Amino acid sequence: MPSSFETLRWRDGAIEMLDQRALPERQVYLSFDSAAAVAGAIRDMVVRGAPAIGCAAAYGVAVEAKRISGETRAQFENSMDAAFETLKASRPTAVNLFWALERMKTRLQASSSTTVPDSASALLDEAHVMCREDVTLNRRMGVHGAALLPERSRVLTHCNAGALATAGHGTALGVIRSAIEAGKHVAVYADETRPFIQGAPLTAWELQQDRIPVTLIADNAAGFLMSRGNIDAVIVGADRVAANGDVANKIGTYQVAVMAHRHGIPFYVACPLSTIDLAIASGADIPIEERAAEEVLGYREMRWAPVGTDVVNPVFDVTPAELVTALITEEGVVRAPDREKIAALFRSRTTT
Ligand code: MRU
Repeated sequence: MPSSFETLRWRDGAIEMLDQRALPERQVYLSFDSAAAVAGAIRDMVVRGAPAIGCAAAYGVAVEAKRISGETRAQFENSMDAAFETLKASRPTAVNLFWALERMKTRLQASSSTTVPDSASALLDEAHVMCREDVTLNRRMGVHGAALLPERSRVLTHCNAGALATAGHGTALGVIRSAIEAGKHVAVYADETRPFIQGAPLTAWELQQDRIPVTLIADNAAGFLMSRGNIDAVIVGADRVAANGDVANKIGTYQVAVMAHRHGIPFYVACPLSTIDLAIASGADIPIEERAAEEVLGYREMRWAPVGTDVVNPVFDVTPAELVTALITEEGVVRAPDREKIAALFRSRTTT
């Protein structure tokens, strides 16, 4: 079941992104041809979701290399260093951004004895490969995760961890897509996801596009629905998983996990290995992005709070590993994740 839209696409020598801020009203693609422009698109939420941010950053490196491919080798290397720094500064929490930039840097270094145009073309190839791999990994994750769902299930998800948050298929929504492909009957409850509201314009929209049954709920309805027996499982994505299994994901995820635990409902986190940061010992060390107060004071052009209202707007939270029933990865399912099991997962992986 391929999605009916592309989150990122390569057209006419530039990277185009579906402008997620215009959904669901308009399906508009914006074109970017420099690292600074791509970094701006990531910061401004044209593209969002950990794996999609990683892919966008990889293309940010590739378009920059193409743009300056007339420079001498020394100039090129200096300009590329600056481009990496610009992209790195775009958003702090999703580790896929830094993972993707590291991989692009390695590719750049490996091409250092070729001409500048050859380096630029190697970087573009690498960005294409990374995006294709992302879809393949999501599909493998989907197969592992689908096996966890009963034949009929009502699944709650938070934020958008779908095709829009990846190069295609999705992580949490990828599991749901794969379960449906396997003949299971899955209906989705989508949390609205204040304050940026990824649930309504993104999750509800992309599931509707694929005719997957979806019911939108206000975030604060989740506990009540659980208490009434309406939710069989929770599946969310992740922005960064620490070495001990603590999960940083969209603000509000922690509350959902606590509620799921209270009601004995499995709480699954679907994430590729590129989202697991072995360098971070626990969730306490994960950098949590804070965004503008305007996101809480109102929505888009509308303001509903009185002028002068104090706001704090952390946009991710950390769910401790003890509340995670299982991590669903491309390498398989890790039940009750902890440091040892995660280390073993990396040791036994079949992909690099
Ligand atoms: O702020 P966003 O929209 O980039 O946050 C996205 C999320 O929190 C997703 O759940 C996460 O990146 C997983 S996406 C497969």
